[in-house]
Amino acid sequence: MKLLLENIKELVQVEEHPVLFKAGKDMAKVDTIKNAFVIIRDELIEDFGPMEQLKDKYFDDDLLIEIDCSNRLVYPSYCDSHTHLVYPAPREKEFVDRIKGLSYEEIARRGGGILNSAKLLHNTSEDALYESAMERIGEIVKMGTGAVEIKSGYGLNTNDELKMLRVIRRIRQCAPICVKSTFLGAHAIPLEYKNKPSDYVDMVINEMIPQVAADELADYIDVFCDKGFFSVEDTERILMAGLKYGLRPKIHANELGLTGGIQAGVKYNALSVDHLEYVGEEEIEALKNSETMPTVLPGAAFFLNMKLSPVREMIEAGLPVALASDFNPGSSPSGNMSLISAMGCINFKMLPEEVINATTINTAYAMGISESYGSIARGKVANLFITSEVPGIEYLPYAYGSNLVETVIINGEIQSF
Ligand code: NIG
Ligand code: FE
Repeated sequence: MKLLLENIKELVQVEEHPVLFKAGKDMAKVDTIKNAFVIIRDELIEDFGPMEQLKDKYFDDDLLIEIDCSNRLVYPSYCDSHTHLVYPAPREKEFVDRIKGLSYEEIARRGGGILNSAKLLHNTSEDALYESAMERIGEIVKMGTGAVEIKSGYGLNTNDELKMLRVIRRIRQCAPICVKSTFLGAHAIPLEYKNKPSDYVDMVINEMIPQVAADELADYIDVFCDKGFFSVEDTERILMAGLKYGLRPKIHANELGLTGGIQAGVKYNALSVDHLEYVGEEEIEALKNSETMPTVLPGAAFFLNMKLSPVREMIEAGLPVALASDFNPGSSPSGNMSLISAMGCINFKMLPEEVINATTINTAYAMGISESYGSIARGKVANLFITSEVPGIEYLPYAYGSNLVETVIINGEIQSF
């Protein structure tokens, strides 16, 4: 089956010579083609170019569906490289507690936060977790996401961590989009280990990691390396154990302080270090010449009213930056990547072009899939979206309250909602 998108007002993020990510000044460069076409064969992008190069032969094909994209833009789907979208229930009561003055950390110390989700998850069936997560998947696909990473981390004991990872595996098998799975057993220290956190770390290393690996339940390993959670020493022990089983790190770092998490991530060749509210010169130096993608989570910074990551400094230092949603019930209850893009522009002073790179090719890199996703390139998976009628690429982050994603194509198939 062939699909022809024609008369596209502007085809965004095209690559003649695909790269794995964009860094520094290149982040402000996005190649586009005005009045363009895209040909999709089965699940792949076969060709694209300006309308005048559209050869007549394409019209001879019986099995050709044509979509007129006049006045509309076409983008590669967003890749969302950091989510916790398998969770038992929202935590809107903590939201109100925070409005009344409690901090995220205070709520966590009182057994709320991640521990609250873990308690609920223990009493929720795999089927129920799967159903609610699939609803969230449906929601993000509709908003333009074509690949997503999902973390465990609301289990916090071996059985429940494995249960979460099995749910993620089922989502991977059934969802239309690409799903990557990350084991985050070290997300919080359970109350019963409060006074002996290293015993919990031992359990992650000796019990959880071997079972996760034996059942091939995860692509990556994560640790919440931060003040009040896991120390750099704990993190390094866990990452070392994961690497023995081929689990590359993608870690939560420097959300709550200058903790050394970024350096630990780089030392263990993490695919990404995420959050990064606290980044100084040493952290920037560590990230230079590394293979680690600095990933910022604007939704969490917005929702928790946090200090903003110094994104401009990182880009000016020549680093790449990725933006992901962090979709989770405690710090970012939204997987809307268009909104994340708007926050990139409004709060972090990124250019519209920079947020396009940050939410497509750079997040694809941060989930290890940028050879097949994250841009419009020949041979890449045909995950893309068509906007409603809009004037140009600046309009999407500008009109932050509107859903301008009109038609979604995943694996070359038009999705109906
Ligand atoms: O990325 N920072 C740590 N973990 C999540 C929050 C999880 C939660 O509050 O449920 C995050 O923000
Ligand atoms: Fe997170």
